[in-house]
Amino acid sequence: MEIDGRTRTCGLIGNPVEHTLSPVIHNTLAERFGHNLVYVPFPVETGRLADAVKGAAALRLLGLNVTVPYKSEVIPCLWEVDSLAAAIGAVNTLAAVPGGFKGYNTDMEGLYRAMMVENIQIADEEIILLGAGGASRAVAYLCAMRGAKRVYLMNRTLEKAQKVAEEVNRSVEREVIFPIALSGVDSLPDRRFLAIQGTSVGLAPHVEDVVIDDERFYAKVHTGFDLIYSPWETRFMKLVKENGGRAYNGLKMLLYQGIIAYELWNGVKVSEEDAGVVYEKLKEHFI
Ligand code: ATR
Repeated sequence: MEIDGRTRTCGLIGNPVEHTLSPVIHNTLAERFGHNLVYVPFPVETGRLADAVKGAAALRLLGLNVTVPYKSEVIPCLWEVDSLAAAIGAVNTLAAVPGGFKGYNTDMEGLYRAMMVENIQIADEEIILLGAGGASRAVAYLCAMRGAKRVYLMNRTLEKAQKVAEEVNRSVEREVIFPIALSGVDSLPDRRFLAIQGTSVGLAPHVEDVVIDDERFYAKVHTGFDLIYSPWETRFMKLVKENGGRAYNGLKMLLYQGIIAYELWNGVKVSEEDAGVVYEKLKEHFI
């Protein structure tokens, strides 16, 4: 693509941003669509976030992604916030609206779409969710808001799982999240579940770490979905497979959070064929 006087800019704000794969997603899509658009990383130093967002609006950037450590801190800088993102309290995508930016959480919508394309249901399902940190808390909201029947929220520190459960249950006005300590595998019903791994335990380079290694746990998992994509196969995924389950990593979540952001910015629908092309490009960075 040739940059000219009409080129629109999108980008990523965070700190650090050097290792991001988002330019692969957006610049590939721009090429596929023939859009006159570039996507670039913008490192934002501590204390400069509000200036960065204001500057981005003044420069009429089309959209931004937001990464660590600014996903919550960015909210007061926004003109509008989508309801799922507001409930979660985390925004990873800004789309230009008159006056500023509207914030969305395409991480969670991306996880949902990644699960849909793999035929993994949330509605009416009973699900195990590992961890009660920021990512798991967001997944708990997603499951509750997308109609899961029950979510067993398993965490090393029970009190933290209880706090997340209370908050989400109050927000959706039904008892959907049930907190369980990691030691409480036996209190899970005697059947197999979808299990979502929402902690950073097992992330490279700590590839041998896993939140739970109790075989009795894995005997209750028919499908494991790890939010981590580096390494390609986490120890959690290996244990799921060894016990007869299917396992997925988080790369399609990364893919679809980007695709949904691209759709919001450009008012288009990305086909599964284009999604596949981008996915293959992302995969080159891992295999
Ligand atoms: P965030 O999503 O907020 O970035 P994280 O640091 O990726 O959070 O993950 C935090 C989660 O991983 C917590 O649920 C934490 O359990 P505690 O609440 O008990 O601290 C969980 N976690 C971290 N290290 C763990 C370990 N070694 N074993 C089990 N769970 C662990």
